[in-house]
Amino acid sequence: MSSKIAVACDHAALDMKAEVIKYLESIGYECEDYGTYTKDSCNYPDYAEKVCDAINAGKHKMGILICGTGIGMSMAANKCKGIRAALCSDTFSARFTRLHNDANVLCMGARTIGAGLACDIAETFVKTGFEGGRHQTRIDMVMALENK
Ligand code: RB5
Repeated sequence: MSSKIAVACDHAALDMKAEVIKYLESIGYECEDYGTYTKDSCNYPDYAEKVCDAINAGKHKMGILICGTGIGMSMAANKCKGIRAALCSDTFSARFTRLHNDANVLCMGARTIGAGLACDIAETFVKTGFEGGRHQTRIDMVMALENK
């Protein structure tokens, strides 16, 4: 598995994605950019699928998806098996979704938060580990819902 973080966005979040990748790389994290690469209108589920498929193929441990609100990306990502996507607009949520939910995909909204905050949230997310213990039981319950 590559330690690179899989990152993708739609047309609404191209600039924020670039800022987040630049920042993560400046603090020592490598990123793989799954698109989109232009501001031409596109469909966010295509990009959520690319990142989630790459995670499920074992290429990456974590992904970051950014669209206008982050909502569409998080809805699409959470339809993919094995994915626990968390839409965050604060660092507390980013920290606790790693500690308690073992989230493997961070979603953010380029139209709802600024790039500085997005970079802080992304840093918190990638630096925080899963606490395990009682939280694993609950995650097992969440993941079992996929098979209903
Ligand atoms: C695109 O206009 C917008 O709908 C998309 O970026 C996102 O906010 C969807 O949830």
